[in-house]
Amino acid sequence: MAIYIAASLIIKPGDKVLVCEPSYIFANMVFEGLGAELIRVPVDSYGMNTEAVEEALKKHTIRLIYIIPHHHHPTTVTMSVERRHHLLRLIKNYQLAVIEDDYDYDFQFQYEPYLPLASGDHEGNIIYIGSLTKVLGAPFRLGYMVAAEKFIHAAATKRMLISLRGISLRSR
Ligand SMILES: Cc1ncc(COP(=O)(O)O)c(C=O)c1O
Repeated sequence: MAIYIAASLIIKPGDKVLVCEPSYIFANMVFEGLGAELIRVPVDSYGMNTEAVEEALKKHTIRLIYIIPHHHHPTTVTMSVERRHHLLRLIKNYQLAVIEDDYDYDFQFQYEPYLPLASGDHEGNIIYIGSLTKVLGAPFRLGYMVAAEKFIHAAATKRMLISLRGISLRSR
């Protein structure tokens, strides 16, 4: 729902959205459902190919980039530090709207996970989305969004319109 809400506040029909190839199919369906055209860039063992991102930015007017830097779905690759820095530079230079999907941040047992791109210097362009569903268990559909204050207010209004009172855990 967070991906849908964020994307619907950003995308207009005909806009171009940059995604990895392959990427999370339900996010792609959200973007295409909102009328966006997907521009795809490859992923390798260092994550999303940021050289290809730069090329795509020169060629197309990109409205939104969707990224999964930590445990990319479906490849599970984590984006390298070098590519994170490159991507952050591109985000700042092009003033890009970005959805950072960090659905799996808590599942990292071998080393401390890299901090999200959203914790770096991005001038308010990154909308960070996380999920507690994997920790709490599938029946608890609980996600969260971190973004600029105005964007959060708009997202909260949209959320209210989709589901007025949300899920109430209080029993009668
Ligand atoms: C990349 C990605 N984003 C978002 C989600 C949705 O996460 P959740 O099921 O925790 O809401 C998933 C689910 O596996 C996913 O793979």
